[in-house]
Amino acid sequence: MSTATARRLGDTPDPESLDPAERMSVDELRALQLERLRWTLRHAYDNVPFYKKSFDAAGVHPNDCRELADLAKFPTTTKADLRDNYPFGMFAVPQEQVRRVHASSGTTGRPTVVGYTERDIDTWATVMARSIRAAGGRPGHKVHNAYGYGLFTGGLGAHYGIEKLGATAIPVSGGMTPRQVQLIQDFRPDLIMVTPSYMLTVVDEFEKQGIDPRTSSLQVGIFGAEPWTEQMRLEIEDRMDMHAVDIYGLSEVMGPGVSQECVETKDGLHVWEDHFLPEVVDPIDGTPLPDGEQGELLFTSLTKEALPIIRYRTRDLTTLRPGTARPGMRRMDKITGRSDDMIILRGVNVFPTQIEEIVLRTAGLAPHFQLVLTTQGRMDALGVRVEARPSTPAERLDAAAAELVKAVKDTVGVSVTCEIVEPETLERSVGKLQRLVDRRSR
Ligand code: DLL
Repeated sequence: MSTATARRLGDTPDPESLDPAERMSVDELRALQLERLRWTLRHAYDNVPFYKKSFDAAGVHPNDCRELADLAKFPTTTKADLRDNYPFGMFAVPQEQVRRVHASSGTTGRPTVVGYTERDIDTWATVMARSIRAAGGRPGHKVHNAYGYGLFTGGLGAHYGIEKLGATAIPVSGGMTPRQVQLIQDFRPDLIMVTPSYMLTVVDEFEKQGIDPRTSSLQVGIFGAEPWTEQMRLEIEDRMDMHAVDIYGLSEVMGPGVSQECVETKDGLHVWEDHFLPEVVDPIDGTPLPDGEQGELLFTSLTKEALPIIRYRTRDLTTLRPGTARPGMRRMDKITGRSDDMIILRGVNVFPTQIEEIVLRTAGLAPHFQLVLTTQGRMDALGVRVEARPSTPAERLDAAAAELVKAVKDTVGVSVTCEIVEPETLERSVGKLQRLVDRRSR
């Protein structure tokens, strides 16, 4: 396939095909949000003891919400609150109305459990279908879905959206990488949905099998569930000859499909604001920040029945900006990282995405790397372990390592060490990638 025929899915969609909410003005949307917000606050207060208690303790009542700005008076909700009410204590409807549950993997202790009514599942499918359409998907397309199926929201969330759009779902799930390549070659899907880190593993597998990945039928990849950078977009677009767009979401708020980048602009993710109300606050003290300033993203659900969520602290760092391809809906910048993943090295904040940008810009280095934190004396030290690209000549490696160390010092402002390892040495993830290895002594 030549570049001219590839990437043909990048057109602006026919306005008639959009959901009515995607065509609303900002004023229309704000009015709808206020009505839905008032319903949500009331629904949460009346049906979830946790919310009644937390609103009462803060001295606020759902009736106090007369305009959208009043939301800031209400208390925030954290992952710990969901854990404390494990498994079903946050549900606002009787169990007979819950059609499905999902849960986060829960790396520490109990997982967080979320639930959906029939209408919630339909809402989710609607925002997912909208997301896939914004990415360039159309009815009749085939979509290879390599997000994991199961308690993780990625697989099933994407699946129902693909069907709702009128496209064909190919429910592959993650893993068995050689088979992923075979199915892409045989079924000739138009789009792929997968984590960006696993996409790289699949691209490598194409090359291992002697197939040029640029010749595949894929024209758009919808990548999310973990942070990734503009530099990674260029890497994937170049190696696959397809568009790479960003999808964001989280279980507590719905799953994938909370916001989506439009393929025709690729300028951040439009938040589907008719269902999810975003705020950005100071990550330390929780003070609301104006649009245009970076901080921690909070979400309030506006239509969810089984698990209404009020001012959920995502820990994800981003900036809200005015809409472009969907003028009524605000955009969020690509996530810089989670505040939990931030490394503080001698007082300087370091995000794995900053290192990703530099690794990918350094000639000879592959996009597979780990960040290793150790203790040296009484200080923390950060090492970058990165694979060489298979084509890199051995004599290039020392220079590549020196360039990386210098670029990190110049742009991030910290000193790191760099170890270049053989191709295929670092562990690959089939879902979300864990970049940070913490080997610090206590
Ligand atoms: O990861 C939902 C999802 C599935 C989104 C498939 C996109 C695609 P959780 O497992 O609850 O849900 O994890 C949510 O993942 O708070 C972010 O830290 C991170 N995350 C999700 N999407 C992105 C993204 C799913 N596009 C957590 N960029 C969120 C950066 C993301 N981080």
